[in-house]
Parts: sequence; structure tokens; C-alpha cells
Amino acid sequence: MKRLFLLITAVLLVAACNNSRPIKVPVPARPAGQVNVLGLTCDPLETVRIGVVGLGMRGEDAVVRLSYVPGAVVTALCDIVPERVTASQQALAGLGKPAAREYTGADDAWKALCEQEDLDLVYICTDWSHHVPVALYAMNHGKHVAVEVPAAGTLEDIWALVNTAERTRKHCIMLENCCYDFFELSTLAMVQSGAIGEPIHAEGAYLHNLDPYWTRYQGNWRLQENQKHRGDLYPTHGLGPVCQVLNIHRGDRMKTLVAMDTEPFNGGRLSERLYDKPDETFAAGDQTCTLIRTEKGKTILVEHCVMTPRPYSRLYQVVGTDGYAAKYPVPMLCFREFKEGQDPAHSLGKEKVYRNELARERLAQYQSPILTPELEALAKEVGGHGGMDYIMDYRMIYCLRNGLPMDIDVYDLAEWCCVTPLSRLSIENGNRPVEVPDFTRGAWNQKEGFSYAFAE
Ligand SMILES: NC(=O)c1ccc[n+]([C@@H]2O[C@H](COP(=O)([O-])OP(=O)(O)OC[C@H]3O[C@@H](n4cnc5c(N)ncnc54)[C@H](O)[C@@H]3O)[C@@H](O)[C@H]2O)c1
Repeated sequence: MKRLFLLITAVLLVAACNNSRPIKVPVPARPAGQVNVLGLTCDPLETVRIGVVGLGMRGEDAVVRLSYVPGAVVTALCDIVPERVTASQQALAGLGKPAAREYTGADDAWKALCEQEDLDLVYICTDWSHHVPVALYAMNHGKHVAVEVPAAGTLEDIWALVNTAERTRKHCIMLENCCYDFFELSTLAMVQSGAIGEPIHAEGAYLHNLDPYWTRYQGNWRLQENQKHRGDLYPTHGLGPVCQVLNIHRGDRMKTLVAMDTEPFNGGRLSERLYDKPDETFAAGDQTCTLIRTEKGKTILVEHCVMTPRPYSRLYQVVGTDGYAAKYPVPMLCFREFKEGQDPAHSLGKEKVYRNELARERLAQYQSPILTPELEALAKEVGGHGGMDYIMDYRMIYCLRNGLPMDIDVYDLAEWCCVTPLSRLSIENGNRPVEVPDFTRGAWNQKEGFSYAFAE
């Protein structure tokens, strides 16, 4: 009896140990003949000729925005719905721009666009299921690609993008506009100035009640993604800006994550409301939380919630050894107040908090190197989430025209997107920790710190 008890205890202990050990996620060997594309530069392009695929809510606006970017010209338009191509064509005409070539009417009409010789960049704004096939086909036909968020939702697709970008040596950019929000840009500059000491923890999120939008997505694709999949389905708005602050794959890397979600309390009822029939198998929890630990011992919290009535928030909090910044619910900064020459240890507990306007004024001392007063004014005029979308497009075209490395490279894309499949893996395995693959395959600390590239 005693022996049996000991045996059961031993088995339970082994099971418990195995359960707390991170799930290993293999890193596939780099195919022969390709090298990493960190800091990739390509021949400068005087004019960047762009084909936009997917002209729904997001793509239609992109066509207009790109028309204001110096050196960018939209030369091709594609949507499966012909009226959407016509609408964007009319928008170009209204702005006095030449007509673009049109591709429509078939699910794979985008192939002919990617094959077009006189095209440099394929800008992808489709539903999620088309992002990767279009991006791979475009790179394989010699085009740079810019893909809306999240670029990919499975590890297989993420590795396919990394491998294709490395093999073709084409830029594979993710259109993470939140990295270009004015608050995030200034906070990054502030952190890089050392004003909050060493950043040690950051939080990011996508907390957005999508009730008014569900039926506006073409063919209801977004609800269907939530019906089918658990995990954080939209991590990149929250993660992108904080990964730049924490120098991910520029001296540090995400090493392990663990995720947890709620039941789909509202999710299940949503399909009942929209389709008149309850969905008992609705997969995505209403709220998903993912905690990530980095190689250097820092932490990141990412949240996703699109199902409950709550104020919009991307959290965006950065905790440093000597200060703090947060964007939501109201802008807030906090600094330890050092007196000149004072030992910082003597100022513990003596900090000053800045809220709202005071925080904005204090943050204005830290100017992002990519902003000029003219660019900021034009971005606010052209718009796109208050101007950040325009700054994103402007920077991408500026880098392409000057043959510079991109602000957001294919490894950023991979790291920010991998939270979707890895959070799912953790949740579906009883919230077990999961290893985060090193998508650079050994080069994550080759570069020191995040920085922007500029022409000489
Ligand atoms: N960065 C942001 O702030 C932001 C905001 C909203 C959406 N998004 C992303 O933008 C993308 C598009 O979202 P949306 O809101 O515009 O959705 P949407 O449904 O309004 O637009 C998708 C478009 O893709 C088209 N499409 C579908 N299949 C196609 C095919 N085979 N060939 C060509 N076109 C096809 C549809 O007809 C539709 O016009 C998504 O990836 C979404 O996550 C990003």
C-alpha cells in the first residue's frame, strides 16, 4: 500500500514537473543558400509603384493616404468585389492621380497584379486568410510586400514569410501603425534618452468593442476567425510599440510566454444575435491575457478583448527602473526626482506624477527623430487614426526610396504575430508556458537597440 502511495506521488510529481516546463517549439533549420535579412537594404527606388490588394475599410483609405506620400504612386488596384476597385479608382481620379490598372472578379485576381512587371510594392489589406498567400506570391515575383496586421496567424505561415523574405531578399513589412502614434513615438524617444532608467516591464493591448463593426467586414470574416480560434487573435497593436521600447531582437528577445483566456461569455451570444442561432463551439475567449518573459529577464503583458463594452485602450504602459509612462486611460508620466549629483538610492519614494496635459507637455520634450513639424502637420491633415497611418506609410516609402533598412522587418512581423499561435498552444495545454522561437535563428543580439535609418 505504502509502495503504491509512493509510486502515485512520484508519477504526480513527474507530471507536475513536465506540466510546468515550457512546451518546446522547434526552430526549423535555415534552408541552404539563404542568410538572415537583419538590416536588409535594397536598391533605392526613385518612385515606388504600388499595387493595393483588398479595398475594404482599410484598403480604400490606404489608397488615398499613399497618394499624398512623396514618391509613391498607386499603379494597381485589386479586390474581389468590382465596385470596390471602381470606388478606389474614383478616389484616385478625385485626387488628380492617373488611373491604376484593375484586377477583380476572381479569388486569385491578385496573382496577375503580383506578376505585373512595373510594380515595386504589393500593399495587402485583405481579410486575414489572404495575407500570406498574396505576400508569398508577391515576393516570389520580385516585389516588396507590406501586409496589414496581423500578417500571419500560424507558425507555418510565419516561417514561410521569414524564409521567403530571406530567400528572395525582399522587404516583408507589417503595417503596424500603432508604432507611429505620436504618444508612442515620443515615449520611445523618452525611454531611449534614459529618462525612465532601464525599461523592465511593458503592457500593450487591443481592447476595442467591435460590436459596431462585426457586420461590416466583407463576408463576416472577422467574426468567423473568432468563432474558429482561441488565443490572442490581434496582438500586434499592443506588442509592436513595446517591443521597440524593449529592443526585441536588437539585444533582447521574447523567450517564454504563458496565456489564459475567459470563456466566450459574449462571443457565443454574438453569433446568436447576428445569425439567429447560438454558437456552442465559439472558440475565442472574450478576454485573453498573455505574459511574456524576455531573455534579459523583462516582462510584457498583452491583452485582447473585442467582445465587451469598454473604453478603447491599447494600455501602452512602460515601467522603468526610474520612471513610468502610460497612455490609457489618460496620459501619465512619473519620474524619480533626482537632485543634481544626488545618489539615486536617496531619492527612492520621491517621485513626481504628471497627468493629462502636464504629461503631454513633459512628453513633448522628447521629439521622435522621424518627425518634422511639416510631416506632423501633413499627417494630421491626411489622417488615418489621427495621422499615425500616414507617418507609417511615409516612413516605409522614405526607406524604400533611399535604399534603407525598414523600421519594421520580417523578424518583428514574426515575433509580434507568433503570440497568436503560441498563446493558443499555452491555453489549449492548460496554460502551460511555451517557448518563443528565435526567428532570427541566432542573431537576436547582433544589433544593439532599436533605431531608425536615415539617408546621409
Ligand atoms: N492597422 C489598423 O489599424 C487596422 C484597422 C482595421 C483593419 N486592419 C486590418 O486590415 C485588413 C483589412 O481589414 P478591413 O477592415 O479593411 O476588412 P474588410 O472586410 O473591410 O476588407 C477586406 C477586403 O478584402 C477584399 N478581399 C477578400 N478576398 C479577396 C481576394 N481574394 N482578392 C482581393 N480582395 C479580396 C474584400 O472584398 C474586402 O474589400 C485586416 O487584416 C485587418 O486586420 C488594420
